[in-house]
Amino acid sequence: MRIEENYSLLKHNTFHLPAKTRWFMEYENEEELGRILRDEYFQECVSLHIGSGSNLLFVDDFRGIIFHSQIKGIQVAEETDDSVLLQIGAAELWDDVVAYAISKNWGGIENLSNIPGESGAAAVQNIGAYGVEIKDVIETVEAYSRFSFEKRIFTKDECDFAYRHSFFKNEQNEPYIITHINIRLNKKPVFTLYYGKLNEVLGTYPEITLANIRDAVISIRKEKLPDPDIIGNAGSFFMNPVVSIRYFEKLKTQYPDIPSYPLGNDHIKIPAAWLIEQCGFKGKKHGEVGVYEKQALVLTNLGNATGDEIALVAESIRTAVNEHFGIELTPEVKYVG
Ligand code: EPU
Repeated sequence: MRIEENYSLLKHNTFHLPAKTRWFMEYENEEELGRILRDEYFQECVSLHIGSGSNLLFVDDFRGIIFHSQIKGIQVAEETDDSVLLQIGAAELWDDVVAYAISKNWGGIENLSNIPGESGAAAVQNIGAYGVEIKDVIETVEAYSRFSFEKRIFTKDECDFAYRHSFFKNEQNEPYIITHINIRLNKKPVFTLYYGKLNEVLGTYPEITLANIRDAVISIRKEKLPDPDIIGNAGSFFMNPVVSIRYFEKLKTQYPDIPSYPLGNDHIKIPAAWLIEQCGFKGKKHGEVGVYEKQALVLTNLGNATGDEIALVAESIRTAVNEHFGIELTPEVKYVG
């Protein structure tokens, strides 16, 4: 167990913001976590659990305690002729899990290659890319209660997964800390290739294999998204908004080129990147904050941005998109501080 006081979060957020936390606690197992959660002093503190901070915006220093798991490991919990169930520690880097699965030729998560962050946070956020979401492979989630100090196993239904959402993302459910996720992978992989660009890039490979899908996804992502180790960012800053078909038809008369993804329930998802680009933000710099030139949905720290400055640019984007299109953008990143 490691507890630090007045600790810099610079290495714990991919925006590279120099925020600090009053307390920072890293635990190796549930017993250590339970010990701190039972501590009367820390029970009085506001608290936050983080993964690798790839979806956080620190707008100020944090005045309470931040928890970070060190529970690692990838175990085969069950194996049949067709599938394998893996139990994964919440602190395991998600992309290491994907690489491991592919090395074993187990399919289901290859489209989710190269996404920064840890496995527990991946479930909280229901990460998704190229037509696949982590919910598609999750069977159960193991979580520890801050109040009863007991572990509970959540079925997939109980996890209440939706687009970039889960039961664990709901502020009221934060008492639960994910310790492990259990995912089922396919030994006879079925590929998900419908996402336009993925199909196109895979056409340049001699054959479709899990390793080639991973390679193609990585090359698409590298082309569009800045590497957080080099340029501070948190991936998509906003979620893609969903509107009714009626509203979409109205917009289409005014903007015939508007891209869209029908959701099959009288609703349409519109790429936020397109809306932001139309408002003229793409590639622009606002002091130390950039709107990435290759993907308008990504805000970047050009070097010395503060969380407040990033939040201000995000707010001006929201206002402009609302004024132009009558659509409210919702941040995908979580504001902290
Ligand atoms: N587009 C623009 N301008 C841009 C970029 C995109 O107009 O600068 C339009 C294009 O029409 C393009 C469409 O937006 O076809 C979609 O763009 P892209 O394929 O890059 O996907 P996205 O909708 O912007 C979502 C996820 C990404 C995920 C990709 C691929 C959200 C909020 N983001 O982005 O996830 O990698 O699809 O599946 O749903 C993340 O969550 O951090 C993330 C990067």
